[in-house]
Amino acid sequence: MARMPLLAGNWKMHKDHLEAIQLVQQIAYHLDEQDYDRSEIVVIPPFTALRSIQTLIEGDRLAIGLGAQDCYHEESGAFTGAISPVMLAKLAVRYVVCGHSERRHVFGDDDQTVNRKVRAVLSNGMRPILCVGETDEEREQGQAEEVVARHITRGLEGVAGDRADDVVIAYEPVWAIGTGKTATPSDANEMCGFARSQIADVLDGDAAGSIRVQYGGSVKPGNVAELMAQPEIDGALVGGASLQADDFAAICRYHRL
Ligand code: PGA
Repeated sequence: MARMPLLAGNWKMHKDHLEAIQLVQQIAYHLDEQDYDRSEIVVIPPFTALRSIQTLIEGDRLAIGLGAQDCYHEESGAFTGAISPVMLAKLAVRYVVCGHSERRHVFGDDDQTVNRKVRAVLSNGMRPILCVGETDEEREQGQAEEVVARHITRGLEGVAGDRADDVVIAYEPVWAIGTGKTATPSDANEMCGFARSQIADVLDGDAAGSIRVQYGGSVKPGNVAELMAQPEIDGALVGGASLQADDFAAICRYHRL
């Protein structure tokens, strides 16, 4: 089954709302129908820029989707500082990143927390991008597959098989994030394939065939085409290179490189 590639730019804690508007305008300037037909293109700014970008996308009818970097699992209540999935859905957010390694390692999100977020995102009509991946140390100890299997099994616990199409997995080896080190295309392909086999265990086999598995970790214009040529890789979750309009647009135009 053909899976539509998903190219998403995770801006992390960069860009105020004015810079965010400028960046989206510049990205849009470089892209045309051919790019939008070929892949789904999504920007994932900080919460404070979501409203401005939503307005820009709707006003200019841009074919760019909107994502959020995280959310809390409760819909409302006394949770100072938290952002609810209901609030995100109201801003036409389509994707929410769940369990990014920075959330896991800096903010202490564990598998149960991540699973609650995944289910909350789904039950509010949005799509989770569930991030999975091993650290350098875990890879050296031969535990890469075990870690990815655990992130997937626990992350997707309780997700109904018929919601599988709405789930995206991002395989992001922690040692490749923001380091300039990329997994080789064949290693990335192998791990994305492994991730898919684990999805088949949790959900059902058909679901695994339609779920998109992205690769993330130092994706750049120079390596994206080779990564995207791998059969198990259905897109990229891009950090650093998504902050430069030229670079992110070049990544979205990988099929022309
Ligand atoms: P990077 O980040 O592209 O800067 O390595 C990827 C990510 O954290 O999603």
